[in-house]
Amino acid sequence: MPRESAGTPLNTALSAHVLDEIKELPAKYPQPRSAVMPALDLAQEELGHLTPEAMTEVAEALQLDPGYVEGVATFYSLFHLEPVGRHRFYVCTNLSCMLRGANEIVDHVKRSIGVERADQVSADGLFSFEEVECLGACEFAPMMRLDHRFHYDLTAERIDALIAQRRSSLPPLTPALSPEGEREIAKPKRETAKPKGEREAATPKKVTAERPRAPRKKKAADG
Ligand code: FES
Repeated sequence: MPRESAGTPLNTALSAHVLDEIKELPAKYPQPRSAVMPALDLAQEELGHLTPEAMTEVAEALQLDPGYVEGVATFYSLFHLEPVGRHRFYVCTNLSCMLRGANEIVDHVKRSIGVERADQVSADGLFSFEEVECLGACEFAPMMRLDHRFHYDLTAERIDALIAQRRSSLPPLTPALSPEGEREIAKPKRETAKPKGEREAATPKKVTAERPRAPRKKKAADG
């Protein structure tokens, strides 16, 4: 399908509106080169993974050297150069999560989506997974990121529910601190990418109990 907008050629890998969005990014950063990661993120969000054509178009849109853009894309593991599932599990298997059952969570994910290795995609094209290093939420181990959300205190049942939800195309669970101890947070995302009415939660703040203050001693009466 032709993709056209003002100043954007036909038959590009990326849609015209994504290319337009990428072209606006450099103005938001002190160094235009800093726009390369959000630009690649936009491209990946649209295509699922970064093709050589998409990286070339990102470089042209940002007026950067294609080699530099490709270097960034190949350096960071969050960018995928091969097809991945539409929903990707990033399961933390670092120390705290491992001690609290992360390996069993990985095994359960693999069994549930029907893959054996991280470079495989489920038969329906919906899921893939990878093991990642600490995601900075060790106190809620075992935890993972699924798409753009963090999921904490994982259990096999929780994984099953998330998979069923994605398979049935139901809207994602409301990010919140539930009474049952379920916690979800989200990486801040562009407002335009969210389904109507859905808001992603910020990192839950720790609630610290206020210490009761000791009553002040009355000053002895003068004289
Ligand atoms: S070890 Fe898993 S979040 Fe830190």
